[in-house]
Amino acid sequence: MQHLMPVYRPLDLTLVGGAGCELWDQQGKRYLDAISGVGVTLLGHAHPHIHAAIVAQSQTFLHLSNLFDQHWNHKLAAQLAQITGLTQAFFCNSGSEANETAIKLARLYGHHQGSTQPKILVMHNAFHGRTLGALSATANAQYRQAFGPLLTGFEFVAFHDLAAIEAYQDDPDVVAVMLEPIQGEGGIHIASPSYLKQLRQLCDQQQWLLILDEIQCGMGRTGSWFYYQQADIRPDILTIAKGLGNGIPIGACLAEPKVAQLLQVGHHGSTFGGNPLACRVAYTVLQQLEQNYLCLVAHKGQQLLELLQSKLTGVKGVQSVRGVGLMIGIELSQPVPQLTQLACDEYGILLNVTQGKIIRLLPPLIISTQQIAYLAQQVAALIKALPLRLEDLQ
Ligand SMILES: Cc1ncc(COP(=O)(O)O)c(C=O)c1O
Repeated sequence: MQHLMPVYRPLDLTLVGGAGCELWDQQGKRYLDAISGVGVTLLGHAHPHIHAAIVAQSQTFLHLSNLFDQHWNHKLAAQLAQITGLTQAFFCNSGSEANETAIKLARLYGHHQGSTQPKILVMHNAFHGRTLGALSATANAQYRQAFGPLLTGFEFVAFHDLAAIEAYQDDPDVVAVMLEPIQGEGGIHIASPSYLKQLRQLCDQQQWLLILDEIQCGMGRTGSWFYYQQADIRPDILTIAKGLGNGIPIGACLAEPKVAQLLQVGHHGSTFGGNPLACRVAYTVLQQLEQNYLCLVAHKGQQLLELLQSKLTGVKGVQSVRGVGLMIGIELSQPVPQLTQLACDEYGILLNVTQGKIIRLLPPLIISTQQIAYLAQQVAALIKALPLRLEDLQ
């Protein structure tokens, strides 16, 4: 009998080891990891500095609770403040929790602005997580419909359409706009820097908070620490998680003081949030990215995108190949059942498909140029063989 709740459908593959960008199974067969646990293991597997940070912290206390002070949460918050320009951090354990914090902050801000029913504008196709607040801000009907009633106070507008947001200019209850600047789960849809700049201006003019969810596209994935930096703007609230801990669960909601100072002791909290193990590992992740990897991501991403585009442009069944940095989507014209299993069994590549027909590549940021060439070659071969596969399946 299975003892896990049936919410996942894992591949028919049991992994027993990993190092760098590779994982292997019981038979010793090696796979190139092109999904990083959905954007988490930025430094790959078994990174020596992450290993050392975990061991060192486990030799002292792993957990204290927020009843006591320690220095790793302060160090991490200070480092994130330097990187993002957002000086106030709340640490939690996941992306969903970071978004819950952002939603609570926006409502708190709204109440201070005089609204009793504050509204947040969110995007069609958005994914912000599975907890009830984050789910209420998430568009996908499949994820939502079984769990009503969801929270009120969210209005969905078209992604990358400023006019759709401007239409709310006279609504006094709108307090914030929340979006992923690159929609990940939604299928690698990219907001342009010029759109983000205009959105920032509109939010300033309306005194709305700009909340960016960079849980998937942040932490160096697009070649800068955060994608918003490529638009030369700054959000009022930023949510991050996934790659921050390279696999040790941690999320963070970062905010401007004008918002964060509205919180009082007891307003929000978390047992595990900000624990010394997670903060020490996250601090190490930031150091490693800064010292060794971040400066190479844009170039590697460009290399992967160009290779894929050159191999796949005009290929039957490929609609588009798009991405920024090492966040790449290949949109197919139709869903291909078993594509991820096929990629792993026959091409030795671990990848993911979102929205049924968009292949999502989120390799570790440490991927080498040789591995990029191999990845592009294998993915192109996989896609070119798909029409034959589909015929077999018919
Ligand atoms: C953009 C975005 N926001 C929020 C989440 C939710 O994060 P978590 O699964 O850690 O709760 C995800 C997870 O995929 C995400 O991609």
